[in-house]
Amino acid sequence: MAQCTRVSGSVGLITLQNPPVNALSAAVRQGIVDTVKRALSDPKVKSVVICGQDGIFCGGADIKEFGTKMSGPPLVPMIHAIEAASKPVVAAIEGGALGGGLELALGCHYRIAHSKARLGLPEVSLGLLPAAGGTQRLPRLIGVPAALDLITTGRHITAAEALQLGVVDQVTEHRTVDAAVKFALSVAGKPLDGRRISTYPCPRPSDLDALFEAAMQKVRQNARGAIAPVACVQAVRAAATLPYIQGMEREKELMATLFTSGQARALQYCFFAQRAVSKWSMPSGARWDTSKPRPVHKAAVIGLGTMGRGITVALAQAGLSVVAVETQEKQLMEAKQAVSAMLERGAKRRGVAPGPDKVSYSHNIQAVADVDLVIEAVFEDMDLKKKVFQQMSVICKPGTFLCTNTSALDVDHLASQTRNPELVVGMHFFAPAHVMKLLEVVHGSQSSPQTVATAMQLGKKMGKVSVAVGNCRGFVGNRMLKPYVEQAFFLLEEGATPELVDRALEEFGFPMGVFRMSDLSGLDVGWRVRRGDGLVEPGAASGQPARSRGGRRYSPLGDLLCEQGRFGQKTGRGWYQYDKPGSRIARSDPWLHSFLEEYRARHGLVARRIDHQEVLERCLYALINEGFRILEDGIATGPEDIDIIYVFGYGWPRHRGGPMFYAGMVGLAKVLERLEHYHQAHPDVPYLQPCSLLRRLVAGGSPPVHRWREVIKKFHSQL
Ligand code: COA
Ligand code: ADP
Repeated sequence: MAQCTRVSGSVGLITLQNPPVNALSAAVRQGIVDTVKRALSDPKVKSVVICGQDGIFCGGADIKEFGTKMSGPPLVPMIHAIEAASKPVVAAIEGGALGGGLELALGCHYRIAHSKARLGLPEVSLGLLPAAGGTQRLPRLIGVPAALDLITTGRHITAAEALQLGVVDQVTEHRTVDAAVKFALSVAGKPLDGRRISTYPCPRPSDLDALFEAAMQKVRQNARGAIAPVACVQAVRAAATLPYIQGMEREKELMATLFTSGQARALQYCFFAQRAVSKWSMPSGARWDTSKPRPVHKAAVIGLGTMGRGITVALAQAGLSVVAVETQEKQLMEAKQAVSAMLERGAKRRGVAPGPDKVSYSHNIQAVADVDLVIEAVFEDMDLKKKVFQQMSVICKPGTFLCTNTSALDVDHLASQTRNPELVVGMHFFAPAHVMKLLEVVHGSQSSPQTVATAMQLGKKMGKVSVAVGNCRGFVGNRMLKPYVEQAFFLLEEGATPELVDRALEEFGFPMGVFRMSDLSGLDVGWRVRRGDGLVEPGAASGQPARSRGGRRYSPLGDLLCEQGRFGQKTGRGWYQYDKPGSRIARSDPWLHSFLEEYRARHGLVARRIDHQEVLERCLYALINEGFRILEDGIATGPEDIDIIYVFGYGWPRHRGGPMFYAGMVGLAKVLERLEHYHQAHPDVPYLQPCSLLRRLVAGGSPPVHRWREVIKKFHSQL
């Protein structure tokens, strides 16, 4: 709701009240309409200030209302009424004015912001556009190029940038409401004709067509199939080319096409899923979120390869003191330089002065003795990691949390090397660790709730999206990747090319297809793991390596490439060719195409035409099927956890909501039917066999994704 009080004798102070972010729910809109009306008709009120309670102006439209039948007064006429008021209305922006919140402020005659406030029109990230006049008023106020930037990216800007762009009239360091009331008193009775943004002419750049063409090209390139950014450009174009009233109509039409789109639903699901994963509990009933994390002031990182360096940077940027340990003298020297350079670049990018050096270096593991938490990032080798955990257990002060950055090894096995297995947890970062947002927090069977809570809290402090997952080979993300990559290999055997598979996946919205990704991360990584698992036949290239292992279909293609030293970008050759080792531009390689032809001929395989649909169905449904198995096994608590892992760590297009949400959009019955079809065609591929939970969900009428947890709970209780 909204409350109106009279302050300083003649200022009507309207306070939005809807914790936690004063979202513009039906009740709040009704409150604003009523209180504004009352203030304007009260002869004692000479000017009005609108503010929000609890340190935030307004977080925008109430996203929970989307998809329900809208009631209460609509935003557009409400904002028009404010703009048309005969008394000055001032927005006092503290905390944030986002989406509808900023649109409300743009309807006011003046805007005063606190220096720490953030402003923005983030609707595009929810699959929408600012449809309460935002696309029409902002370009009129700050010009087309700046408005295009803010509306198509949805980025939040600081108060200082808002002042520079002309979004706000004044920035204050003091109590915003006091500054706004003072300001309101000073403008009472002054004419408002020049303060109604909708009446401004939109500045028309001379090269209008070229400007919009370039903007459209840029968003199409970055959008990876998302439709909202394109609609945002079209709406701003309407502001620049049409009178205000017609521009508003265009804004409304464009919004109508977005509002009911699957993309908007997917993006809004992601918004809530991202918040839901931080309130985690396990199927066993144990709840970590009720456990109090212990503060971590000083941390250590052991092993300064690519991952260790990135983790060190991320910890230091979060304000922690870090002890960085590396045994190889040369590596240590290189790491020191690399970490300092990364910290410096980071400070520059964030526009802050590089802080005092919070990182100390040592080649001696004894240096970790007094830290609160250690993250081990040595080679991915169980024996070495076991040794490091034994050492840490002896050296560290009592109570130190011991974390491993392994991407697949058994956390329980490492915990068993220590005196206090309850203090051991996995912290699986993604490369580069100071950039990638995802963190899988892997709880072992003995990890205490406080240990998990502390790792989750630390992840949050480091700016990560942390997801708690159970302990199994590959955890959630990498475990699901296996059937996906396997299908891609099989498709090559059956007649596809890396180019075809990658194009299908990139058109779907992945930034990189499976083969370009494999070239980037290095084919040798998987090869080493497969060798460790005894799957690779030595000397395969000279003979005819078998295409099955223990009755399961197996593709030795990756092994054969590795035997030829084709490790991907690092060697200049992989599934593609590169101008030189390390180059990032993948070019089609005729050698690979003849190699595939020879391979097929040797194995009596007849290439057939494979279309994009088959690529998507086989790769994605195999991955989704494994996602259902992960839910069955209790490795992830709910579909949201899996989806957030894929969106933040694996490039799954956000506007498709994550693999499990996508399965729901496609229709679980269809996913099941296609998996059955492909499993029948490939009975020796267990990953294609539909799992029980998927069958159960389909038998139960394919409930929407937010109801899967109930089914999963029942499923577990019946096991
Ligand atoms: N509508 C409904 N609920 C909202 C909301 C909105 N516009 N904005 C935030 N919330 C809810 C969150 O879901 C969360 O609920 P929970 O505690 O039940 O999980 C709670 O408010 C706090 O949000 P959170 O994001 O955890 O807090 P924060 O302080 O980190 O960030 C904001 C605050 C406003 C910056 C952030 O919530 C945000 O970006 N909101 C969306 C803004 C937006 O896109 N508005 C345009 C809508 S079209
Ligand atoms: P990444 O996958 O992060 O690139 P690497 O596996 O290449 O990591 O690097 C691991 C690092 O750990 C190497 O620099 C190696 O020298 C270092 N290392 C190995 N054993 C220890 C140890 N016992 N103590 C500290 N550092 C170690």
